[in-house]
Amino acid sequence: MSDTPLRIVVCGGGNGAHVFSTLAAARANIDVSVLTIFENEAERWTAAMKENIVVSFAGESCQVKAKPFLVTRDPTAVIPKADVIVIVVPSYAHAPVLKAILPYCRPHTFIAGVPAHPGLDFQFTHIFGSKAKECTLVVLETLPWACRLIEYGAHAQVLGTKEKVGAALVQGEDSNIPLDCIETLQRLIGDKPRLNLVQNSLVVNLMAKTMIHPPIMYGKWRNWDGKPLPEKALFYQGIDDSQSHFLAQISDEVLLTSQAVKDKCSKTDLDISPISHISDWVKEYYADQVKDGSSLKLSFQTNQAYDGLVHPMKAVDGGGYVPDFSYRYTREDVPFGLVVLKGIAQIVNVSTPAMDTVIKWAQERLGEEYIVGTELKGRDLPKTRAPQVFGIYTVEQLLLPS
Ligand code: NAI
Repeated sequence: MSDTPLRIVVCGGGNGAHVFSTLAAARANIDVSVLTIFENEAERWTAAMKENIVVSFAGESCQVKAKPFLVTRDPTAVIPKADVIVIVVPSYAHAPVLKAILPYCRPHTFIAGVPAHPGLDFQFTHIFGSKAKECTLVVLETLPWACRLIEYGAHAQVLGTKEKVGAALVQGEDSNIPLDCIETLQRLIGDKPRLNLVQNSLVVNLMAKTMIHPPIMYGKWRNWDGKPLPEKALFYQGIDDSQSHFLAQISDEVLLTSQAVKDKCSKTDLDISPISHISDWVKEYYADQVKDGSSLKLSFQTNQAYDGLVHPMKAVDGGGYVPDFSYRYTREDVPFGLVVLKGIAQIVNVSTPAMDTVIKWAQERLGEEYIVGTELKGRDLPKTRAPQVFGIYTVEQLLLPS
């Protein structure tokens, strides 16, 4: 490309948006602006931003210092000039963000969901309608980092960086992006994690490990007596036989679904090999950190990357802690995770008793209804990203053009 800086708009105002926008702004020849339409975040971020935003890395002395040239709530100020739009928000915020940017996106823009969470491909195509034909969407399997804000608009910390992240393209038939999308995203995030291009966004949907949290929550709290615990329970490292059993069962159902998609679709070369069982995934993605990989339970219990991570719990008057069922492990990972997987399984006629059990339990905690019996016909199904919500009922429709 020419010397003209690449104009990046990062949509979002949380942990990941701070890290992404700062790391990208630190690269040469990149202009970064931030669009956050949420509450008064743009004003808060602008007021807090000093000379630079600092991104620090846990356990390391290095820091990255840079900042976006503008943080705004006004899409008209940034979207019409954007070469790349990177959306870094939880999946329940994807719809409002997509609707806010849609009227101002130029033709041939590339948009990235970092991360996507299952079903962003369906939702994007639905909301963008005919405009989706001129765009390319990149979906990432997960956020490249575990990260958190230390001081809003001023300091974010990276707790860990993944080794690799799966990515796929959803290419509109008239999209003509003058950039290599994966190479460009890689340039923005740096060398690590490596972005691995997989064949189709459906494969990324089935790879997503958002399926980990709900069965662990279910296994831990399904028989909870309502009494506060004296301290917060360990999340991954506290996993017991029943929790690892539910997790393995759901992973089995995802693999059965993946194989059924491959068997039933006309795309004979569909490569589902990036979709791995949770027992293999944990050892592959955390190769150096799992101390005993002899079982799924021990792989989680001895994974040093999970050191000290606890269940989402709230302190209560009178002392102790109770589980927080509104946290993203249920609020996000069920309607934008398990329900999407269940919807895909239903299209290829795979029964999912383990998913059904966990969805039923979680929907009661969330005060929602996604399934009735084993069928996806609950009153709140339209709030989810099950493919059926977007009129997708066949395996061919599941495979968006890549
Ligand atoms: P976050 O919780 O920091 O994001 C919150 C932000 O989302 C808000 O500050 C706001 O900017 C935006 N937002 C929320 N509701 C909105 C709405 N109704 N309309 C418009 N914008 C809204 O999220 P974080 O930590 O940046 O994570 C982003 C995604 O990455 C999530 O899906 C999360 O599950 C996933 N993830 C995060 C990890 C982490 O370590 N932070 C690790 C792995 C995955």
